[in-house]
Amino acid sequence: VLDAGGEPAWVESNKVKTGTTMLYLEFDNGVVLGADTRATSGEVVADKMCAKIHYISPNIYCCGAGTAADTEKTTDLLSSNLTIFSMNSGRNPRVVMAVNILQDMLFRYRGQIGASLILVGWDNKGPGLYYVDDNATRLSGRMFSTGCGSSYAYGVIDSGSREDMTVEEAYELGRRGITHATHRDAYSGGVVNL
Ligand SMILES: *[C@@H]1O[C@H](CO)[C@@H](O)[C@H](O)[C@H]1NC(C)=O
Ligand SMILES: *[C@@H]1O[C@H](CO)[C@@H](O)[C@H](O)[C@H]1NC(C)=O
Repeated sequence: VLDAGGEPAWVESNKVKTGTTMLYLEFDNGVVLGADTRATSGEVVADKMCAKIHYISPNIYCCGAGTAADTEKTTDLLSSNLTIFSMNSGRNPRVVMAVNILQDMLFRYRGQIGASLILVGWDNKGPGLYYVDDNATRLSGRMFSTGCGSSYAYGVIDSGSREDMTVEEAYELGRRGITHATHRDAYSGGVVNL
């Protein structure tokens, strides 16, 4: 099936994508990460219960949008790299260290890995939030949403977030943001993970 010219056109469109909406909110009392659970392959829902919030280390989690296999492998590699670091040093990794390694990993492939990730953690400097994508763009901030449903989620979280939210209010806002996106965006769906 593969011709000498490289990948046939269908390979791109048949990859399982995480479609996706995910968001992150930082507030005085903590951080909230949210994601939908729909994975699509072209027009088909490939997985209704796809986990998009990935464990990195005890103090760091990562939300991945993009090609499902790429977000999965990238976060697995980052997690094992940091586990080895923790076993050697006896402490949890700093958030900025995780984001540096992630950015290095993605930059090495110059946009060939389909991943746009939100990395969130807590260390002795407090909360840390970064957006990193396959072109190794890196942004730091207090609130992000990514994936194709992100504009809908932004509408909700931009208008609803406050720094003095309680934990319950932050959960509720995150849940509303993702739910709204799953109603409007065809590539987001399933249930809300927070
Ligand atoms: C973790 O990643 C960094 C940066 O890519 C690399 O220098 C280091 O050797 C890796 N550590 C392990 C244990 O693979
Ligand atoms: C990465 O860069 C390429 C080429 O400039 C662009 O087509 C692509 O959309 C970028 N990816 C992201 C996630 O911004």
